[in-house]
Amino acid sequence: MKYTIKGKSPQCHPTARAADSAVLAGSVTLAENASVWYGAVLRGDIGGVSVGANSNIQDNCVLHNARVGASVTVGHGVVLDGCTVEDNCLIGMHATVLSRAVIGAGSLVAAGTLITADTVIPPGSVVMGVPGKVRAAVSDAHLAMIADSVNEYLTLAPEELPVVG
Ligand SMILES: CC(C)(COP(=O)(O)OP(=O)(O)OC[C@H]1O[C@@H](n2cnc3c(N)ncnc32)[C@H](O)[C@@H]1OP(=O)(O)O)[C@@H](O)C(=O)NCCC(=O)NCCS
Repeated sequence: MKYTIKGKSPQCHPTARAADSAVLAGSVTLAENASVWYGAVLRGDIGGVSVGANSNIQDNCVLHNARVGASVTVGHGVVLDGCTVEDNCLIGMHATVLSRAVIGAGSLVAAGTLITADTVIPPGSVVMGVPGKVRAAVSDAHLAMIADSVNEYLTLAPEELPVVG
């Protein structure tokens, strides 16, 4: 479902897909092959929401004024508020990322992690806990997990979701 806020409507690449139950409201941009899954809410009423190419925003996520780069997985139930997630990251299920935080490219944020406001995570980090702390550098296995997740959703999206139109 798309909504216009203060004259700003979602802008979606023709290949982007979203569930009918997802909400795209206001200044929201979906790039090529991006997918937004059941029950997710993307509200761009202040700074906008952008989702990069090949990224997936899974079920029941909430994105408010957040920037998500390319080839990113945002797991079920994640909250991204006023933050930036750079390319090739995986944000694990039910993680929360607060205002002005930046998740550096190629990082893995473990399920359930809380990234506090203004935190800058260096590229290639594994972050865990409440509050989230860098526990390690991403391994080859982590990088494979990040890539596999993106590829899995690039396969699933055309099977399950309509193009946004
Ligand atoms: C982080 C993750 C990838 C595991 O990484 P890993 O390097 O294999 O870590 P391990 O399982 O070997 O555990 C290493 C340590 O991290 C801890 N740990 C693992 N996952 C954790 C989490 N989500 N939160 C806090 N600590 C965690 C383990 O308890 C262990 O602690 P210890 O060293 O004190 O014993 C996995 O737990 C995870 O969160 N995956 C996200 C999956 C997801 O949400 N995908 C998107 C939706 S499909």
